[in-house]
Amino acid sequence: MNVRAWAEASQVAFLELLYDRFDIVAASGPLWMGPACATVILEPGPSDVARILTLERALRGCAYSDDPLRLYQTAAGVAVELPLPREMRRSISVSQLPLCQGLRVSIGGDGRGRAYVLDLESRPHALIAGASGCGKSEALRTIVTGLARQNEPGEIEMVLVDLEGSTWGEFTLLAHLREPVITRRQDATRMLEGLLGELATRDADSVPLVVVIDEVRMLTRDGAMLGLLVDLAERCRKRRVTLVLATQTPKADVLPTDLTGNLGNLLAGKVNKATTSEVIIGRRGAELLPREPMGDFIDAGGVRLQAALVTAADVQRLPMSRQATHRPTSDRGEPAEPEVRPTQASEPRALESWMRDWIVLHSDVTEEEIRLPGIVRTRQALGVGEKAARRFLEQVYEELAASPASPLSPPSPPEETGDSRVIQFVRPA
Ligand SMILES: Nc1ncnc2c1ncn2[C@@H]1O[C@H](COP(=O)(O)OP(=O)(O)OP(=O)(O)O)[C@@H](O)[C@H]1O
Ligand SMILES: [Mg+2]
Repeated sequence: MNVRAWAEASQVAFLELLYDRFDIVAASGPLWMGPACATVILEPGPSDVARILTLERALRGCAYSDDPLRLYQTAAGVAVELPLPREMRRSISVSQLPLCQGLRVSIGGDGRGRAYVLDLESRPHALIAGASGCGKSEALRTIVTGLARQNEPGEIEMVLVDLEGSTWGEFTLLAHLREPVITRRQDATRMLEGLLGELATRDADSVPLVVVIDEVRMLTRDGAMLGLLVDLAERCRKRRVTLVLATQTPKADVLPTDLTGNLGNLLAGKVNKATTSEVIIGRRGAELLPREPMGDFIDAGGVRLQAALVTAADVQRLPMSRQATHRPTSDRGEPAEPEVRPTQASEPRALESWMRDWIVLHSDVTEEEIRLPGIVRTRQALGVGEKAARRFLEQVYEELAASPASPLSPPSPPEETGDSRVIQFVRPA
């Protein structure tokens, strides 16, 4: 069955079910095909709009797909979003997206088959949040690629940050970079503090600067850095500085509302709970996204999109400088040798610091709960049962072993000590 035939059959089945089970007759408007879902617009009588919306839970399961359907109100009536079965889905590549202008950038396809445009021009700043693996880093790469496709290097400047050191591998020589890709905390701090100072000299005519920070939680768990970001988000708006941030499922202390309130674009990827979706985009819905996402996100207006993937060919087409962009001038006035800094962690951080970041990032423990050196965690601190604690630590171990950025080669397996509540990672000799 082709995807259009599937959508038409699903639409008919859905309308029949609405009538048979709930006695609701709804005129059906157009059927739109998007890359992640088909969207049917229902035009029920005014009294039935609210009723259909309250039936979402009961109707969710009749999506004729592996994933639940989603209902939301639109000006025309009620939109019914039927998620495509996984085998019918295709990824989108950046080269398939239309070019826009300036800081308005297409990043994927929406539920109606149109390009989804992230408008950083009229709504400065963006946040992308969601569970691990939902496609946040890829979405950041899509945004950067899109901006670099449609703006000459002199027309826009970018700063790329990722303390995990894995997001910006192919972008180290991007000609639009204002400075080498930042992978170290102290460089990120210096850059953000410098930016705050620079704001005084910037105005609405300055060359736009886009600062993209992946896994911002690694910075904001330092309270001072969080304050700095909040300050920047507010003061940057009229000075042509745009922040684009990504984080795993945020808690209020990582992303307080005085920060999110200043971010003009909010995108939620797959999350586990409706309340988490509400923290990110101010509405439910992201909990209904597929368990195996392909760059699926919902924005604060309820629009669903599938973000595009950045292929090697997409990156090859971007203007690259032959050397790192940052060319400090030597004392004699001649350009000094450029400082090329690899993005992979070939300057390995201390093992402890790396593991601490990893644990804090991938679980909800605080830095204080982790005792160094080595990482000794009790299940009480993890707030889970012993089995779950063990599974968690084994997962930590596996990820450490698999991670290209890990300074451990290979890490030693978790060991249980005499105290059964404590599992310890032994530092390799
Ligand atoms: N737009 C997309 N289309 C298809 N597949 C995608 C898309 N975005 C991401 N993926 C798939 O999902 C995987 C995880 O994506 P990504 O690394 O961006 O997730 P993440 O949210 O940054 O995870 P983490 O929080 O662990 O860093 C990718 O390796 C890719 O296989
Ligand atoms: Mg990521």
